[in-house]
Amino acid sequence: MGRISRREFNRLAAAAGALTIVPFGGAGAQVRFVSPPFQLGVASGDPSADGFVIWTRLAPEPFDTAYLGQTIFEVVWEVAEDSSFARMAKLGTAWARPHLAHAVHVVVDGLQPGREYFYRFRLGRYESPTGRALTCPAPDAAVASMKFAFSSCAHYEQGYFSAYHWMAQDRPDLMIALGDYIYEDSWGERRVRQFDSLEAVTLDDYRHRYTQYRTDPDLQAAHAACPWLVTWDDHEVDNDYVSEVSEHELCGGEAVRQSFPARRAAAYQAWFEHMPIRPSRLRPDMHVQIYGSIDWGSLARFYVLDTRQYRSVQACSGVPIVTRCDFGKNRKILFGGAGGASFIDPAAASCKAELADASRTVLGAAQEQWLDGALAASRAAWNVIAQNVMVMTVAEGTPESPRIHSDAWGGYPPARERFFNSLIRHRAANPVVLTGDIHSFWVCDLENAAGRPVGVELVASSIATTTYDKSATLPLNPGARFHDGEHNGYVRCELTRGKLRTDIVAIDQREDPRSGRRVLATFDVRSGDPRVHRVDG
Ligand SMILES: [Fe+2]
Repeated sequence: MGRISRREFNRLAAAAGALTIVPFGGAGAQVRFVSPPFQLGVASGDPSADGFVIWTRLAPEPFDTAYLGQTIFEVVWEVAEDSSFARMAKLGTAWARPHLAHAVHVVVDGLQPGREYFYRFRLGRYESPTGRALTCPAPDAAVASMKFAFSSCAHYEQGYFSAYHWMAQDRPDLMIALGDYIYEDSWGERRVRQFDSLEAVTLDDYRHRYTQYRTDPDLQAAHAACPWLVTWDDHEVDNDYVSEVSEHELCGGEAVRQSFPARRAAAYQAWFEHMPIRPSRLRPDMHVQIYGSIDWGSLARFYVLDTRQYRSVQACSGVPIVTRCDFGKNRKILFGGAGGASFIDPAAASCKAELADASRTVLGAAQEQWLDGALAASRAAWNVIAQNVMVMTVAEGTPESPRIHSDAWGGYPPARERFFNSLIRHRAANPVVLTGDIHSFWVCDLENAAGRPVGVELVASSIATTTYDKSATLPLNPGARFHDGEHNGYVRCELTRGKLRTDIVAIDQREDPRSGRRVLATFDVRSGDPRVHRVDG
């Protein structure tokens, strides 16, 4: 669709309004709420060369889920070439339905490749904030450069979201969220604000949690700044869960085991309702397929992986690392050991066979096959793989008796080797893995089991959580070129054909809602050289 005149637009918008179904028996233009319905902001995501998804959710009374009742609303959406909406590119209407919490996901297509757009929603007299989105460059376009930023782990109680504020200020072309976008539960000592509900278990609980997050102005600004690519990690459902196995199961709770699939489905649905992703990702059985890829011209192919939904149970999960289970007040188990980390002894008889078992998987067979095919088909100058958990083994302990982090790729050596073999076999150009989860910054060279360099791994610390300083473990982690376990923040990258420049960006203080920031370190990865080089002196 080409440009349309303001008059034509007004005519179409008025016609769309007349079709609106409203709770009070009037037309769309007559809709009145106690407060504005667009309080949770707007978002865009899943960009393609001819469009993107735009998102909002009607929530005039954000914490009263019954307020909008069973009414279906028809919402007008507008996409323009300018932020004042003088040059309208596309418009239409979309349904906000009660069974999806009145979320609106619009797949906008027919736009020009490689350009900036602005979007907003309208319902009656109400108008949403304006968001900025970009289409990907045309598939074979020789793009000179692009900027992206990535982050993970935002615990609403443990800090303000200044890191999101600064990500938005950078105005990248793309933001990538690597999981733990919400936390299902409270933990940590220094809380600056409170969840207003207990651990999320039901659909209503998870919706409530996302609603509270989406009232945060810094998070709203980050969503409005550019399209996002999103994956999830464990806390979108339950700490350290994999597949349909809850960490609660380690306590032997049969009732938990039986009920967990329903809990996971509720969590997935609420995640879908609040993420700017294509509606086709939500399957009728409430499974959500979140892996996929996008091409940024011929410069980069971005892959998004799901390392939770299809994964085999962590190795040695039968080994009792749990010291206490407490289901009182809907609380979860407490892990034993300092920091609660699941570090295992890879030499223990009970672990060894499991770690070597090639049938164990991180991605599941279908996703592994898809990734292999997507890597084989890629003609991009850079292959950027966004996923959740550390690919480099993180070890701690002593050289004589190391312990490895079992909830990451290091706990699945044959699966990781299959991933590396795909990169090698298909000669994937310049592989760069983006990682979150571990609440500390890392920059790593990745090697396969034979010691062959296969790419680099860049790891973002958390937006707002307690951080984990692993400096003492560095002698046991020779692939690590940089580690910082003291700061919250994010990672921003500028990609050109010749190199990837990476800034490790730290905020000063997560307890400060207006925290400053600084660059802790800068690294280059040069095309054709699968190693990182620190360039900030
Ligand atoms: Fe996390």
